[in-house]
Parts: sequence; structure tokens; C-alpha cells
Amino acid sequence: MTVDAPIDCAIPPQRDCARYKMHKYWAGKPWYVVAEYIRHFTREGDIVLDPFCGGGVVGCEALINRRRTVLNDLNPMAVFIAKNTCRSPVDLELFLAELKKIEARIKDKIMDMYRLREKCPICGEYLYARHVVRGPAKNGAWIVDARCRNGHGRGFNVRRLLTEEEKSDISRIEDAAIPFWHPDGELPDGREIMRLKSAGITHIHQLFTRRNLVALSMVHHEIRQITDEAVRDLMLTAFSNTLLHASKLKSEDLRPMSANSYYCMGDWIEENVWERFENRILWRWGVLEGKRETNRLIGDYFKPVREFFGMEKEGTFLLLNRPAQDLSNLPPESVDYCFTDPPYGGSIQYGELTLLWRSWLGMDDSFIKDEIIINTFQNKDERAFENMLKKAFSEVYRVLKPGHWLSVTFNNRTPGVWSALLNACRAAGFEKVNVVPQKPLSKSFVQSWSRYSLKRDLILNFRKPAKTLIRRCENNSSAFEPKTIIILAAKEYLSKFRRATLPELFEAAMMKCIDAYYDDPDAMRHFLDAKGTKCFDMTSVDRFLQSDAAFLRSEENKNIIYSLVME
Ligand SMILES: C[S@@+](CC[C@H](N)C(=O)[O-])C[C@H]1O[C@@H](n2cnc3c(N)ncnc32)[C@H](O)[C@@H]1O
Ligand SMILES: [Zn+2]
Repeated sequence: MTVDAPIDCAIPPQRDCARYKMHKYWAGKPWYVVAEYIRHFTREGDIVLDPFCGGGVVGCEALINRRRTVLNDLNPMAVFIAKNTCRSPVDLELFLAELKKIEARIKDKIMDMYRLREKCPICGEYLYARHVVRGPAKNGAWIVDARCRNGHGRGFNVRRLLTEEEKSDISRIEDAAIPFWHPDGELPDGREIMRLKSAGITHIHQLFTRRNLVALSMVHHEIRQITDEAVRDLMLTAFSNTLLHASKLKSEDLRPMSANSYYCMGDWIEENVWERFENRILWRWGVLEGKRETNRLIGDYFKPVREFFGMEKEGTFLLLNRPAQDLSNLPPESVDYCFTDPPYGGSIQYGELTLLWRSWLGMDDSFIKDEIIINTFQNKDERAFENMLKKAFSEVYRVLKPGHWLSVTFNNRTPGVWSALLNACRAAGFEKVNVVPQKPLSKSFVQSWSRYSLKRDLILNFRKPAKTLIRRCENNSSAFEPKTIIILAAKEYLSKFRRATLPELFEAAMMKCIDAYYDDPDAMRHFLDAKGTKCFDMTSVDRFLQSDAAFLRSEENKNIIYSLVME
């Protein structure tokens, strides 16, 4: 689809949404901007690609707007989040029934692990720790923040030192064996991971107190018993989004990883695992609300397929987990629009920072060698970063249809990182059309804290030239032939609209020929041959399509109808 003018800054909506808050991920783009770009550059049924999909905002907004989508990310954690964000509909009655079952089996057992010896002055029931400040800086003088489980007297919180008896209750829990599986692998070396190592954490389980490991292993074990895959995955999403809060990366003053790093404070807190898990499900931005939204907005338009050819049939959603440098399972010129947010140099170490979640979800590190990043531990400098980005953008160029658009969001202060991005897009063959600044919906921690951080993202709009065919013809003259163009145009048209009449395909082929021949007077001969015979008319279109096994021809009410032959 050809659009003349790229668009201005999108206006933020009145209300934010829950669907992109089901699990923490970084650099999530404002969904209303993504939605506006998708609507501007595509039509219903078109295919939208994001090769660096992260949490899946582009795919989800594409589906909501009835566009098909191909998402890809190298990091299996991103792929997991994107899948759970986009999947629709999910049976939420079943989800709540499974939650009830888990609750019945383990909620009281877990809550009892956080019980104090003091009772609520209002109802006389026990108080339970919401969290305990337990970091080494406290030197054994642990502070508890507690409340009653009945919920009355909201805001009624107790804050005091734990008594020796209460500390010995904790020791008893921590002396017992951890009942179920939990990750315990040694931490690899890494730029961010070194921060943990210098805080004395050498193995993944040391990021949690033993009490929290006991509780987490119980929740994890219960979730694993759920047989419905979508419900289990959604529960795991909430569980995984509990982990950072339940780890030693959280202090009372700082949300975990808010500075995009494994910064470990001396006064870390130990949160109540059950309360946080329940909160990740039921709070206003929790997985339940997120899925209510996508169930309502996407409904049954979500039709996942495993291979690209499935998109030419019924499929609307293809999710890949591979390096963007090699998208060889996508055919050339098959994508209508690409909106993407590539990695920004070394500012966020996605591979390393997802380790905590991945270790619980059974996802290893083998992908890291292909990660597009600047990281000396991986021997990747600016030059390596640029070379990898070049490969990725030349793949985007290959799969995008000629004349179609690529929008790249980018936010970085380092000139070398900018030049890597621009060189990559230029080398791929993209024409830069314009740059649009975009305000974020809310400032990130780094944006509000650092005076040097950029307060806006830039959206760069590029276009793949419509004259690709002409360039190709220099060394491939058959691509210039009417037959080649007619067949290509018909395949594109039918993969979008499924069925078409002969005149519709003639028109599609004519448009493609104009694009291909316009700039080259010599090529205009293909409209008429040397003898002045018309070689580009309706009859020849019909003849060429009949001669190609990819097409199915039928006659209905005197109309000639074509569709694609499917295996
Ligand atoms: C800036 S983030 C995208 C965030 C996304 N826009 C969102 O809304 O959540 C960049 C993504 O690129 C991914 N990535 C890094 N190297 C990659 C590669 N070689 N191929 C594909 N994805 C890669 C990272 O895992 C990360 O998820
Ligand atoms: Zn009470």
C-alpha cells in the first residue's frame, strides 16, 4: 500500500491499558502510537512485521486492528511474553477455577510461612508480613511491614522489628528442604551479572531467601499441573512477573531493575510471595485485566500458525524465535509494513537481564551469541553491533514489498549507535523519508532521573523503493517480463484478498507494471512489443495465470475467478 505523507506525533489517550503490563519488559512502545502507525500504513488483512518484537506491542495492536502479524525476537522470554500478550481468547473462567484450586492447596500453607506472633487488635486474627527488610545492611535487625488478612482497617499496617521468636520461626522454615524444583544453576559471566557476583551472588537461587524459594517452588509446582496450555502459560506469566519482586533485587525505595541493571542493594526486602503472586493476577494492571482486554479486542481473530504459508490460508499470527539477521523462513516481498524497535547499543542487556525469569521457565542462554548488542563480555563492540544490524535490516528489506514502509523507533545518545542504525538502514537500500519525535506516555525511571537521558523517542520512517524490479532487472531481465510481473502481482493480491476476478488481477498487475516501468522508457516496450502487438492485455493476463500451477481458475456467473492453490 502506498501512503503519501508519514504521520505526526500521536496524541496520548485518556486512559492507559492493562494488556502491556502483564509482564515487565523494557522499552515497550506506546501502544496508541503503534496502533496509529499501523492503521496509517496498512489496510485490514495486511501483514505487519516486527523482527525485534520484545513484549509484542506491535503484534497485539496489529491484531486488534485486524491486520495479520509476524513477530520475531531472539530472546525466548520476549517470545513467551509476546505470545501471552497476543493470545486470544483465553478461557478466563477456567483460569479463575485453576487459581481457586491452587489457592485451596497452597495459599494457607504459604501465608503461614509469613505469619507473625502478634494478632490484629481489631479482629484478633494473626498478622502476616507483607515484607521484611532483611538485607545485610540491617545487620540482623530485620524490620517487618505487616497487616491483617481480613482487610478491614485498610492502611492498618504494623511496622516494627521482628522479634527473636519470629526470627527463629523463619529459621525453622529455612532449615527444611525446599519441597519442589527450583533453578540452582551457576551464574554465567556478564556485564550486568558481574554486579551480582560482586554482591556475593554466584548461583541463581541465591537471589532469593530460602523462605521465598520454598514458597516460589510450591507455586511453580502447582502451575505445572495445569493441563490447559493457555491457562498454564497465563498463570506462569503472573508467576514470572512475581519473581523480581520476590527477589533480593527489590528494596523499599527502589523497584527491582528500574535502572535496567542487576543492582543489588544492601537493604533488600523479602516480599510475601503469595500476596505478590495474587497481586500480579488480580490488580488493575494484572494478567486477568490484560486478558479481558485482548479477549474483547482481538476475540477469535488470533489464529496462530507455525509457518509463513499458513498466513496465506487462515493464519493471522506467526511468532518466530530466531536471529533477525536470518529471516529465511519468510518469503521475499511478503510483508506489507514493518514497525520495529531495535536494540539500542548496549543500553539494555536483554539477554542477561532476562536470566532470572528464564531460569524458572527453563529457557537457556544459547541464543546470546546472536544477540545484537554492545557488550565486551560477548566481544561485541560498535562495529560488531553495526554489522549485525545491517544483516537484520537487509532481511527486513528483502521481505518487505516494494514501495512499502518501515518505521523504526530509536532512542539513544551515543553517536556511534545512531550511525550504526542509519548505516544499516541505508546499506539495506531504504530511503529515509522523515523523522517524527514522539513523547512517551510516562517517563521511565531513567528518563525522570537522568538529566542527560532523551525524553522523547524518535520514529524514523523509511521506504523501500518501488523500483526494486527495475534494479533487479539489471542482472535479471526475466523479472522485467510482463509474465513475471503479472504472476507476482496476482500472488500478492490473492494472498491478501484470497479470491479475485480477472479484471481485479489485471488492475493489480497494471499498477505493478507502472511502478516497474515508469522510470525506464526502454522498459515501456513491454506494454507493446516491437510489432505493436499488445502483450499486456486481459487475455494475456488470463493466459499467463492459467499457465502457472500456483493459481486455481474457475468460472462463476460468467466471471473468471482466481484463487491460490494450497498444498
Ligand atoms: C528495544 S527491544 C524491543 C522492545 C519492544 N519494542 C517492546 O515493546 O517490548 C529490542 C529487542 O531486540 C531483541 N533482540 C536482540 N538481538 C536480537 C536479534 N539478533 N534478533 C532478534 N531480536 C533481537 C531483544 O531481545 C529485545 O527484545
Ligand atoms: Zn484484623
